[in-house]
Amino acid sequence: MAHQSDLIASDILAYLQSHQNKSLLRFITCGSVDDGKSTLIGRLLYDSKMIFEDQLAALEADSRRVGTQGDDIDFALLVDGLAAEREQGITIDVAYRFFSTDRRKFIVADTPGHEQYTRNMVTGASTADAAVILIDARRGVLTQTRRHSYLVSLLGIRHVILAINKMDLVDWSQETFDSILAEYREFAEQIGLTNFHAIPMSALKGDNITEPSDKAPWYDGPPLMRLLETLEIDDVLAADPFRMPVQWVNRPNLDFRGFSGLIASGTVRPGDPIRALPSGRTSTVARIVTADGDLDQAVAGQSITLTLADEIDVSRGDILATGDNPPEVADQFEATLVWMDEDPMLPGRPYLLKVGAKTVSASITEPKYKVNVNTLEQQPAKRLELNEIGVCNLSLETATAFEPYGTSKDLGGFILIDRITNRTVAAGLLHFALRRSHNIHWQALSVDKAARAAIKRQKGRVVWLTGLSGAGKSTIANLVEKRLHADGRHTYLLDGDNVRHGLNRDLGFTEEDRVENIRRVAEVSKLMVEAGLIVLVSFISPFRAERRMARDMMGEGEFVEVHVDTPLAVAEQRDVKGLYKKARAGELANFTGIDSPYETPEHAEIVIDTTAMTPAEAAEAIVAWLDKA
Ligand code: ADX
Repeated sequence: MAHQSDLIASDILAYLQSHQNKSLLRFITCGSVDDGKSTLIGRLLYDSKMIFEDQLAALEADSRRVGTQGDDIDFALLVDGLAAEREQGITIDVAYRFFSTDRRKFIVADTPGHEQYTRNMVTGASTADAAVILIDARRGVLTQTRRHSYLVSLLGIRHVILAINKMDLVDWSQETFDSILAEYREFAEQIGLTNFHAIPMSALKGDNITEPSDKAPWYDGPPLMRLLETLEIDDVLAADPFRMPVQWVNRPNLDFRGFSGLIASGTVRPGDPIRALPSGRTSTVARIVTADGDLDQAVAGQSITLTLADEIDVSRGDILATGDNPPEVADQFEATLVWMDEDPMLPGRPYLLKVGAKTVSASITEPKYKVNVNTLEQQPAKRLELNEIGVCNLSLETATAFEPYGTSKDLGGFILIDRITNRTVAAGLLHFALRRSHNIHWQALSVDKAARAAIKRQKGRVVWLTGLSGAGKSTIANLVEKRLHADGRHTYLLDGDNVRHGLNRDLGFTEEDRVENIRRVAEVSKLMVEAGLIVLVSFISPFRAERRMARDMMGEGEFVEVHVDTPLAVAEQRDVKGLYKKARAGELANFTGIDSPYETPEHAEIVIDTTAMTPAEAAEAIVAWLDKA
């Protein structure tokens, strides 16, 4: 939908042409219903004639029925479209709206203002060129104004407009306007927000929205719409060094091999020296191929396919960059994270990290602190909860090319995805690489895993027993080891209770500690598999994510998951160690199955039903499976 224009009737082609060539500004509005945010957006849509006739009729009817403006149109109703929102009187999701004027096209992300919607705001703001921060002139700079401004500055939004609204309710007092401005300026300096523009307005009455208002003769700046139409949009990117994340390797036949992607920054021409990252291999650009033929030059924002003069190995997710000024490559970073999931962050848990076109396994190695978004205070934190923002160190499975977020949103902004639920759990902003990642190298060893296993005449592997406390894991593992040992196999048994006396004596039973418990045991069993041993692991290991992590650390066929399946009621009835009784009595917190979850395996290689088998039969079944595999 586009705004009304005389051209539509007289020369539709000319209209479409001019529409296509208009620049696009993405902006976000920050504030709450109380500040008049929905009214402001409704007013922008209305004034740019973005409302269909039938919508307008419905709006007039709704305004009379449920509106808050008497016989006048209640613009907020236009925006607060969802029934639930109307009832709650708050905006709950990110709604993207499109409108256009003669000069420019706009996409506005309308995000909720409350603190519990920080993640929605970050989502809406991540691609914005500008932010309109609303302030109710009667209430001045509020906690939420500070929070919104902090997020806007954190995300590096270039243009900030302070919309000091409801000026009609303070009699268009210049003094009020000036004092709000002074207070805001002082705060803005603290967060490094030096450049913003303040406009006195009344969204409800339409003052200083599209036309300059005569109510504030002391204000000589432009009205909001004029400002939005003239803000400079990033074309500096074309002048930056060339970077293109490779979205896919285009190989239709043996004669053609091209690398396709969207240019994140810079300019590229045939003949330019190129470096592929993380490998560091170099070549030169042969052709710039597009659907409309070859190009002599391409710039940031264009989707292209590059062919290179040499056959170098480049895969999806790699970065092609200018040869003389390539981005850094590292596998450990410091970053800011905005946590977006109901489940809290768990240090040590492997998440998928997506940066540019690359997806890599990553975990949080060290949470450093979280930021109180209302006071900007830094507080020590071991984890982040929904909507919390903190600074952490991350470790990536493989070295990855990146740039600090401040330099490139494309190569420095990332998301974390939960591997099991596939939900986006966090948005991240890369700060810098941790130096130590450059200084630790793999030591090449001459005797390898295969050689060590061969001398023992066996295949190294992990038999990973998972199940509730009291399920019978240790008893069965013990019998399996006895059998294997008797057959002359080289084995080792890692048992939760035992390892917790030594290596993991510093860990308890919170979710974080269990994640770390399993991470360490997985690392130890990996070393033992490298040594050519058959390792029996007997840990509750209640979370799918960490069992999967352990599996992914081993080679093909080396990880054998055994679900020792005992219903909670049965384990509780056996209660060999008396722990269930204690847990029920409230004397033992975070007990698996009682007040801490157990996530049942979905793809275990072996399932042992302990209600139908004796431990000896179970051990027999496991040994038989191993002999066959
Ligand atoms: S895991 O969840 O981190 O894998 P692990 O297997 O190491 O647990 O340890 C479980 C053993 O610790 C249990 O068999 C039990 O003897 C003991 N234990 C003590 N407190 C708890 C608890 N809160 N939850 C589960 N097990 C506990």
